[in-house]
Formats: sequence, structure tokens, C-alpha cells
Amino acid sequence: MTRRKFLYYAAGLSAVGATALYARGMMGGVMGERGMEPSGMGAGMMGSNTLGAVNNFFNPLHIPPEIKGELRGGVRHYDFDIQEGYREFIRGLNTPTYGINGNYLGPTIRLKQGEEVSLNWQNNLGEATTMHGHGMHVPAIMDGGVHQIIEPGTKWSARYKVNQKACTNWYHPHMMGKTAEHVLMGLGGMIFIDDDESLNHPLPKRYGVDDIPLVIQDRSFASDGSFIYNKNMMTVMHGYHGDTLLVNGTVAPYLEVEANLLRLRLLNASNARVYNFAVAGVKNRLIASDNSFLERAESVGSVVLSPAERVEVVVDLRRVFAKKLYLVDRESGAKVLEIRVNKRAQVRSAIPSKLTTLETINLRKVAKKRRFVLETRGPGRLLINRKRMDPKRVDERIKVGEYEIWEVKNAPMGMGMMKMGMTHNFHMHAGHFRVIARDGSKRKVLPWERGYKDTVRLGVGERVTLLVKHSGYIDSQNPYMYHCHILEHEDAGMMGQFTVEDG
Ligand code: C2O
Ligand code: CU
Ligand code: CU
Repeated sequence: MTRRKFLYYAAGLSAVGATALYARGMMGGVMGERGMEPSGMGAGMMGSNTLGAVNNFFNPLHIPPEIKGELRGGVRHYDFDIQEGYREFIRGLNTPTYGINGNYLGPTIRLKQGEEVSLNWQNNLGEATTMHGHGMHVPAIMDGGVHQIIEPGTKWSARYKVNQKACTNWYHPHMMGKTAEHVLMGLGGMIFIDDDESLNHPLPKRYGVDDIPLVIQDRSFASDGSFIYNKNMMTVMHGYHGDTLLVNGTVAPYLEVEANLLRLRLLNASNARVYNFAVAGVKNRLIASDNSFLERAESVGSVVLSPAERVEVVVDLRRVFAKKLYLVDRESGAKVLEIRVNKRAQVRSAIPSKLTTLETINLRKVAKKRRFVLETRGPGRLLINRKRMDPKRVDERIKVGEYEIWEVKNAPMGMGMMKMGMTHNFHMHAGHFRVIARDGSKRKVLPWERGYKDTVRLGVGERVTLLVKHSGYIDSQNPYMYHCHILEHEDAGMMGQFTVEDG
């Protein structure tokens, strides 16, 4: 089946962003409770990389269903159908989408540490894709990276024992050169990992009630409802930026909650946009980074998240009743989600003083140092260590169980004092790292970089020092990936491969 998925538009042709549609709807007074009637299509041009302001939050936030699997022969099976569909993001407009067990995004996968699981992915798309467990510590052949291709009409299973601490991970396609488009179309979802520690904490943990998944993305809509994805050199270089925010696939979302502690699990699932999140007007207490709790909760003003990074934040709404609060993005100034505190607290929860124990950092054990330079060397030439991704080449061979320092640098373009360039980030599969320093300084490590992580942001000219250890799954044949998680950069080849080998 061939059908148009995106509206590819030429410069000068009129494209109407959803934000522009809203603005016109509000002026025309046709804003409804569930959506708005687009009218007067074709007029107006919205810059497709500036987020439009939304002040009227009229759609209840969609909470993805939780999927807890089914025990079959001692293995917990999770069944997924990767499918095509349509979603009415804007009333009256059907957007062609991809989704998992639905028409956009997919369920939240709930995994328990120590369990034997099988994630069974049936590809019912008209094209091949892959499904990667981002942040999952699993064997290379179960990683769902560029090599575990799921042809149309076939099924692929990721089978492994859950072997890591409680955290918030996610899943998304990882098809060579196609990741940006497949994620943009709607493939992705969250993975919550529980362990005994997390289950015993008095933290908020009622899914969708006081423990909320927030998958944050930006999109632009054409006047016929399709996503605009203009894949030109500008998009490759700067990454895709939409003008409309979606949270769990909901445009202009609100969430009704109890006057209680509220735990937000924030995932930046955007192709390229970097956010600076905060719930305005209350104290934000950070409890987790990508792959673990922090040892202790820490108060933060806001949290900067580059694509694929996650945090968990707890806000105290116990003395906030009959009020509206907002999750905001201080980077763009946009409101992201309206939080309506209009229910009485049903349970008591708390943030324990000690959340977890992290391994003590001991740099004397470091056996090897590696350097990774992320660099733009001409239009569309996005390289790591001067190389473009080649799925047939293994760039680094790592000895299992050894501590290593990975020094990652975002090399600026141009010469002299002028630091030009673009933000990148660095994601490593399989294992998790600790951020030791930014630009050589321990003090520049940000609060949300103090737990285990798998993705770290790199401003122009910045350098981060990571303490890395790959502690299992020896396989000299099948590589894992590391890459910039700005999806257009990844697709352009800013990616490399490593194997974990026997000492
Ligand atoms: Cu989130 Cu290599 O991926
Ligand atoms: Cu990953
Ligand atoms: Cu990049």
C-alpha cells in the first residue's frame, strides 16, 4: 500500500501549523471543548520551528494503557502490533500515523527486575522497521538496534531477563536512515522498570493517577492534517522542530489530579528539540535520571532535557487545591500541560530520604580512555571521530567488566573565538554511565546527570567525561550503537558501533 505519510512542502507554499489553526479558531470563536473547527484553510504561514503559544487546554491528557504481559511457560510475554492508522489530533482532521496496539505511540510496558520476558513485535506496516529498548541492559541481538530488522508482515521477539535498577526507559524504532520518520509518525512508548526498592518506596505509584507518563514531542500539521516533515538540508543540520506540542499524543492537554504528591515521568521523545521543563509555582523535586533513582531527591528550578533523556520529578500539591498549574518549557516559554488540582487526596505518599545506592565513583580503577568527537564537516556531514556510521564496521571493542573513561566532545565549527555549531547529545546502548565532569569541571555536572544515564547533552564546544562499564553480554559478532540522539543527525550517520568482548 502506498500512501502519503507526510506533506512535503516547498518553500513559499502555504503550510498551516496547528497552532495557527487554533489561533484562527479562537478568533472565530469556534473553539470547541474537544477540538476546534479548522476554517479558512490555506491562509497564513507559520514558521515551522517556533513553538506556538497555547493558552486554552481543552483535551484530557491521554494516558497510554499499561501492559503488564502474560505468563506463558515461565516467560512473561508482551504482544505488540506495529500498525498504520489515523489520529484526529485536531478536530475534523485525520492525520496518517503509525502506532503500536493503537494509532499513535504505544502502551507503557511494565517490567520487573529479575523477570524473564519476551517482547513480541509484529510489524504490520508496509515497510521494515526495528524496535529498540532505549536504556535496556540486554544482549546485543535483543537490542532492536539497526541490525534486528523486522520485515513487513513478520514478527521479532526481544527475549531477555530484566537485569537493571528501577527506572523509566522507552522504546522506539532504530531503522538505519529511517528512525526520524518512524518516530515522527508515532512509533514509541515508555518502559517502566520496577524493582523491590522502587515498589517498597512510599513514592506516588498509582499509574495515571499520581504517577504520570509524559511523552513530549513537537509536530507541525499541514492543512489536511498530515504531519509536515520537510526533509531538506536545514532539517538534517538543525533537526526537525515542530510548532505544536504533543504530550502522549494529545494537543493542548490538561490533567486532573489529587491535591497530593504528583510524580511526573518526563521523556523528551522529540526528534531534535531541547526543553527546559518546570512545573511553575511549586517546588520541583528531582528523584530519577535516565536509568536510576538519584541517591537523594534534589530541588531544581528546571530540568534541561535533550532528545531521549528522561527524569522523574515529584511536585507537592498537598496545599494547592482548586488551582491550575502548568508544566512549562522555559526554553521556548510555551506551556506544555495544564495540571488541574481538583480532587481530594486518596492515599498518603512521601519521598524517602534515601532513594537508592549508587556505586561509588573510583577513577583509580579506570583501565582505558576513549575519545569521541562529534563534528559537522560540511552540509549533512555529521560525523563521530571523522567517520560516518557503517553498519558493517565495528568502531570500538570493549572489554567486559572494565571501567573506562569516555570523553565526548561537541566540536564547534569555524575557527577562532567564535564557537558556532549545534547542540548534540550522546547516547550509548547496553550499559549505563556516570557523568564525571563537564568541560573538566565536576561542578558543571547538572543535578539530573548525577544518577545512571544513557544519554547526555552537549552544548556547542562542550566536553563531557563519562565513567563507563559494560558488565555483561559478551558477543564479539553483534554490535551495539552509540550516537547523537537528534534523530536527523543519527540518520545522517552520526553514529558508531561497539562490541562487548571477553577480557
Ligand atoms: Cu534511543 Cu540508539 O537509541
Ligand atoms: Cu538506545
Ligand atoms: Cu547531533
